[in-house]
Amino acid sequence: MAAEVIYGKQLAEDLREEMKQEVAVLHEKGVHPKLVVVIIGEDPASKSYVKGKQRASEKIGMDSDLIELSEETSEQELLDLIHRLNQDDTVHGILVQLPVPEHISDQKIIEAIDPGKDVDGFHPENAGRMLTGQDTFFPCTPYGIMVMLERADIDVEGKHAVIIGRSNLVGKPVGQLLLNKNATVTHCHSRTKDLKSHTKQADILIVAAGRPGLVSGEHVKEGAVVIDVGVNRVDGKLTGDVDFESAKEVASHITPVPKGVGPMTITMLLHNTIKAAKQIHR
Ligand code: GUN
Repeated sequence: MAAEVIYGKQLAEDLREEMKQEVAVLHEKGVHPKLVVVIIGEDPASKSYVKGKQRASEKIGMDSDLIELSEETSEQELLDLIHRLNQDDTVHGILVQLPVPEHISDQKIIEAIDPGKDVDGFHPENAGRMLTGQDTFFPCTPYGIMVMLERADIDVEGKHAVIIGRSNLVGKPVGQLLLNKNATVTHCHSRTKDLKSHTKQADILIVAAGRPGLVSGEHVKEGAVVIDVGVNRVDGKLTGDVDFESAKEVASHITPVPKGVGPMTITMLLHNTIKAAKQIHR
């Protein structure tokens, strides 16, 4: 039987509608949640992502600033800007779009952001909180995946979750969030031997490798949940890491690309920014 398709797009729309109400209530209390997005350079994909983030903020009535800096901006200039934003009480969330140019250390930039305004959840303090099972800002894509699973009534407790990918943005944090919810977690990556022997064991298979077509139906256990985090352009068309057509014949649930995980990432960024505003104005 073909899998049930989990559309993040619809869920994202529903959640953003709820957030719009939440922002309106905060406005009545004189609180205006505000996100500042900083982009350095001219990468077209990054520019399109940040425009999407800004549009989504505005749609729910949230204030948002986009600061566009030239490729030549020095690390010190960027650090100075972050320090100013940290001090600015009208700013609740700060996001520096990654990747940054090579002459700038992404880790230094991430660590310069006030952990209370780190709506990406990348600061080591927030990563440490997540590691130790505390509430904090969770990275947006992993958090979005957890919300999708929850809303689809998929209980992860005791399930074997296999993750392909070990990036700091997705692979590692999604594994941690699943572990925090009592899943048994296996991480696979580019050096893993016999990938299929691992993926075939997965009750929940999360694919975040950035390799189109890496996973197909033959990698998937009957009845597994397949979450495709891949965002690849093949012949100008957006495609995931999973061969949707073959995998959907084996899986119980599957996310498509586009309209799957992607729209949830921005939604959780909005959620984190509202949370940051509430924490300051408690
Ligand atoms: N680049 C790609 N994804 C992300 C993200 O979630 N946050 C930031 N800051 N940069 C990114």
